[in-house]
Amino acid sequence: MFTYYAVAAAALLRVAAATDVFAHFMVQNAYAYDVNMWKTDIASAQQIGIDGFALNWIPPDCVNGLGWTVDRIADAYTAAEAMGFKLIYSFDMSYSTCNVFWNQTFMGDMISKYASSPATYRWANNILVSTYGGDQVTEYGNEFFQGLKSNLQGSSAITLVPGLTTFSMEAASPGGDAASAASSMLSQYTAADGYLNWQAWPLNVQQNISTSTDQAFQSALKGSGRSGPYMMTVSPWQYKDLNDGNPLDSWVAYSDTLFVDRFAQLTGDNAIKPDIIELLTWNDFCESHYLRDLPSETDTSAKDYVELGDMGAYVWGQNHAPWRIIAKYYIAWMKSGSPPPITMDQVVYWHRIHPKGAICSGGSSTAIRNNMMPADAVFAWALVSQDSTISVSVGSNQYWTFQAGPSGPAMFSVPFPVDIDGVVPEVAITRNGQTVQMGNSSQALSSDCSWQNFNPVVNLVGPGINTGSD
Ligand SMILES: *[C@@H]1O[C@H](CO)[C@@H](O)[C@H](O)[C@H]1NC(C)=O
Ligand SMILES: *[C@@H]1O[C@H](CO)[C@@H](O)[C@H](O)[C@H]1NC(C)=O
Ligand SMILES: *[C@@H]1O[C@H](CO)[C@@H](O)[C@H](O)[C@H]1NC(C)=O
Repeated sequence: MFTYYAVAAAALLRVAAATDVFAHFMVQNAYAYDVNMWKTDIASAQQIGIDGFALNWIPPDCVNGLGWTVDRIADAYTAAEAMGFKLIYSFDMSYSTCNVFWNQTFMGDMISKYASSPATYRWANNILVSTYGGDQVTEYGNEFFQGLKSNLQGSSAITLVPGLTTFSMEAASPGGDAASAASSMLSQYTAADGYLNWQAWPLNVQQNISTSTDQAFQSALKGSGRSGPYMMTVSPWQYKDLNDGNPLDSWVAYSDTLFVDRFAQLTGDNAIKPDIIELLTWNDFCESHYLRDLPSETDTSAKDYVELGDMGAYVWGQNHAPWRIIAKYYIAWMKSGSPPPITMDQVVYWHRIHPKGAICSGGSSTAIRNNMMPADAVFAWALVSQDSTISVSVGSNQYWTFQAGPSGPAMFSVPFPVDIDGVVPEVAITRNGQTVQMGNSSQALSSDCSWQNFNPVVNLVGPGINTGSD
């Protein structure tokens, strides 16, 4: 009898609680921000159903000259409070060399500082605190987390949801045992109330990501009786090139259809139901998984001016904003439990700008890990209000078509042709013999490239989010 009621209550709770959606936000890239810039970003995030930002920041005295992050966070709270938006900290505990590491006193002060803010996100009654890492740097670890928690009581008490990369990678590695990784995490990290599974990308394998590791962490967590949430991560892409001659510092993850595949796992009949979603990321430009509009590259007085250095060579020009259309659709579905009505005719399409085998004059060229995994193709995702034929042309691969309709999104891809230099992918939506919408990619393909670039450009045919202006 008792058990029955407990199960029924838990089931009811699950139905009642819609999954909250956060986006990982790199505070380091907000140097130029003012309160209004924060509000602009928040409005653009809210437009697609994001409830809050997980503020990733490194210890302000880890390297010289990062003290300003504390002020930027104050601005973020001012903006979030005005806009009904939520914030959580994602303490970046991955830096293994620092002048001054994170310490419990400072973290505690920064947590308590906003304990009474309506923008502070709470899990049950506690302040939710997350991390990136904390398991691979000797200064931290379970005792450090335990100390942080013990210091914080009453309205500052926290629910700790660390993102411990060791366990997430162990669970995701080919042949890895996710259940055993999850149980090691729980036994070694008794201070963890919940878990953020950072591994949103296939780990060095040419395979689509499954939910098996998510399920392993989620069920281990629930089975252990911990009170915190399981946070699942969703990301559109992964490519980074530090261009330092070290092959360990340049990689691409197999991400061709990752965003759509991952969201599909969160919707529909067999949907996995994590407690919280964290989108990776809002503005990590150098890992190529940003959903935000491109920031200002040259206008040093712009409030979103960012210096990206060499890594800008694979970011500038690679707009990702239309990916937010995909996110918006699936987030609405995930939250409401049913697919949202389709009112517009849109095709979001993305592609890299040179073949994977091309050797470009700049960047890490052949030393990029997994560089043979992506398909040389243009990927298209259509969301149309009526039955339509979508036509995609990529040079001599002309007028390849697929059908899409109001019942839901349709995916298709067209390979790069042999002769690609100067080819601009073209996409059209046609219906009853009429072209309803058409457009060309903002970037041409070429094997004659000045920088090794596995970061795609994302385009939109039809109305909607393209540059963030609407
Ligand atoms: C704790 O961290 C803060 C912020 O980086 C720093 O200013 C302070 O000196 C640190 N305290 C100790 C004892 O290391
Ligand atoms: C991943 O899934 C897509 C469909 O979304 C499929 O076209 C592709 O072949 C899959 N990739 C692999 C490596 O199985
Ligand atoms: C796309 O490019 C083709 C070929 O250059 C051109 O004919 C067409 O007008 C362009 N379409 C748009 C919408 O710009």
